Amino acid sequence: MKIKNNTILTLDKFINKALYDDKSGYYMKSNPFGKKGDYITAPNISILFSEMIAIWIISFWENLKCPKKLNIIELGAGNGEMMDQIIKTFDGFQVFKNCYKINILEKSIYLKKIQKQKLKNKNIKWLKSLKEITNVPNIFIANEFFDALPIKQFIKKKNWYERNVKFTKLNKSSFVDILTDIKKIEKKIGFKISYKQKFIEYSPLSIKYLKIISEKINTNNGGILIIDYGYLDSSMKNTLKSISKHKFNDVLSKFGASDITHNINFKLLEKIIKKFNLKMSGITNQKNFLTNLGILQRAEIISKNLPFSKKADIYFRIKRLIDKNSMGELFKVMLVTKKNNKFTTGFTN
Ligand SMILES: C[S@@+](CC[C@H](N)C(=O)[O-])C[C@H]1O[C@@H](n2cnc3c(N)ncnc32)[C@H](O)[C@@H]1O
Repeated sequence: MKIKNNTILTLDKFINKALYDDKSGYYMKSNPFGKKGDYITAPNISILFSEMIAIWIISFWENLKCPKKLNIIELGAGNGEMMDQIIKTFDGFQVFKNCYKINILEKSIYLKKIQKQKLKNKNIKWLKSLKEITNVPNIFIANEFFDALPIKQFIKKKNWYERNVKFTKLNKSSFVDILTDIKKIEKKIGFKISYKQKFIEYSPLSIKYLKIISEKINTNNGGILIIDYGYLDSSMKNTLKSISKHKFNDVLSKFGASDITHNINFKLLEKIIKKFNLKMSGITNQKNFLTNLGILQRAEIISKNLPFSKKADIYFRIKRLIDKNSMGELFKVMLVTKKNNKFTTGFTN
């Protein structure tokens, strides 16, 4: 991707170009998942992850009083693996089967093709915009979606500076921090994001999506289940990172050829959804969520008559999902609902 000398981009614009440039953005030309790719996500580690999500969706539908029409919307469906397994699990639930419609919001045309291939013969609507969602209760599922959205960063010295990227020679770049008016930004966001912070990291696009999602949930009922790596402290950190071939690398050095991501600040997400009149109905880590939903019992059932090697493989995969040194603690699960909702399945300690 050619960028002119001396071009300066705010960090979010830089990430957007690196990941989502129509022609040469990272997500627009490659399949990042799995051993041969750059990273692996939970649905691609074990089908039991998606089974647990499917069971959770059915329980939440019951909590919503079993509406005859329900939209399930997956945000950023990757290679389609999670939705494939979710639909297979739904097939065993006769009454529920007649009530739901699946929608996918996917930005990458390349991944959309892979999803359409994997999910062919399934009744799915690929959305161009969240505004197309029909007015019935909605359950949004976002596994590793928000971490893929571009972020802005601000640094407090004496005043606040915004982090930018300057291209010096062809595709050589460096960070430059430029003096900014944080009050203007706060006016746009609608709250004082700089309160008690020395560093700010947030995604304007996340706020935009959460606004539309909140309007949909407030009007039609439902909720959003967010699963992502992140932290719960209120003080924000610099978590920007780049990943290629399962290893971290320099964010600036592999422009367009490496994933760029960050850890989600769940406290900030909570502030945002509160501003949009919703509540956080639950927050826990992936280990608690999956074990509460019975992933270990399910593994026992399906591995009962299997040879030792297959059994070991099932448990090895679950260990990656729930072990505290793997995804179990770093990954958090958050449920956002209307203020009067009391559903807590998966979130009790
Ligand atoms: C890290 S991947 C996670 C994929 C999948 N959920 C999984 O767990 O395997 C992020 C996904 O979000 C998609 N994505 C990123 N930005 C998006 C946007 N603005 N709208 C819709 N999809 C987006 C990417 O193309 C990719 O499919």
